[in-house]
Amino acid sequence: MKAYVTGGTGFIGSHLVKQLVDQGYQVTCLIRKTSNLCWLAHLLTAKSPQVELATGDLQDSDTLVDHLRDVDLVFHLAGLTKAPDAATYDRVNAGGTQALLEACLAAQTGLDRFVHCSSLAAVGPSRDATPQSESVMPQPLTDYGRSKLKGEMVAREYADRLPITIIRPPAVYGPRDADIFLFFQMINRGVMPILGEMEKLLSLVHVKDLVAGIYIAAASERAIGETYFLTDGEIHTWTGIERVIADALEKYSFRVKVPFCLLDFIAIFAEAAAKVTRQTPTLNRQKVQDLRQRFWICDSTKAQKELGYRPAYPLQKGIRDTAEWYRANGWL
Ligand SMILES: NC(=O)c1ccc[n+]([C@@H]2O[C@H](COP(=O)([O-])OP(=O)(O)OC[C@H]3O[C@@H](n4cnc5c(N)ncnc54)[C@H](OP(=O)(O)O)[C@@H]3O)[C@@H](O)[C@H]2O)c1
Repeated sequence: MKAYVTGGTGFIGSHLVKQLVDQGYQVTCLIRKTSNLCWLAHLLTAKSPQVELATGDLQDSDTLVDHLRDVDLVFHLAGLTKAPDAATYDRVNAGGTQALLEACLAAQTGLDRFVHCSSLAAVGPSRDATPQSESVMPQPLTDYGRSKLKGEMVAREYADRLPITIIRPPAVYGPRDADIFLFFQMINRGVMPILGEMEKLLSLVHVKDLVAGIYIAAASERAIGETYFLTDGEIHTWTGIERVIADALEKYSFRVKVPFCLLDFIAIFAEAAAKVTRQTPTLNRQKVQDLRQRFWICDSTKAQKELGYRPAYPLQKGIRDTAEWYRANGWL
């Protein structure tokens, strides 16, 4: 069986490529000339000829057609999670999805599945502490979230011609993640940041559970035309997560309250600096708006019932696994 993965050089995609190789798939990864291959390097050895690289760009449909001939499964994880403006997000997260789907139509006669990786951000946070389900009307909050929703809408337009499954992860953590890592780093330095006054609830998924869930969704006939949230099955508080990180790191850290007005100020400064350096800031006003939300929560009951999805990484185990990886790889 042959799989084609976009975003295979990234955090989640590289774990998915490993999962597919372990399942015996021949995997082709879309890479760009500028891609950093460090997370795939261990799979590109002579001992493991199951992974091939195909150079192109999501926005170049013609090249993609050549890559997609004879492929059984397509996993579309490539996307921008940080971008300078809404148009850039849309161009990749929606336009890139459309180009890939067009290429699938042009190349394929019998694709078994197209798995599209969306996000809880496409739906937005819950307003009232009820975890978001797949049937909730999406109300994305940020340019990123709106572009992910547009990507989903594009994917659904092809659902009459291609067997599409949409996966919406909440915040993803685990080995190789550089975002939630920032909290590990601060706690490791003895600082436990408490953002704003109100306690915040969050859904999470460990990357190994997520890629296992993506795989079973791709293998299930029931999942054709469906959308699933995949979480670790729990709802966490931010302070609870930080305590578990501190325990895993065996660190005593001081709780430091960080008011949102300070984050807004830093974000404005970072945005101005980014205009000069032409880089995308890690923190911007939209990211602060994200962090302000009290209920970034969703429910994966549908995936558990319909796909038999069973997450194997409850928070403590997942955080311990992640902390060990950061230490072993010199990140901490
Ligand atoms: N991380 C999370 O917490 C999270 C949560 C929910 C949903 N998601 C979704 O999960 C997916 C993967 O996220 P991630 O965290 O693994 O992101 P990531 O580490 O930033 O990886 C992004 C991947 O997309 C590729 N890419 C970007 N633009 C491309 C283009 N124009 N053509 C071809 N490839 C392109 C990158 O390739 P290069 O190596 O060439 O840059 C990279 O492989 C995204 O769709 C994201 O929206 C992530």
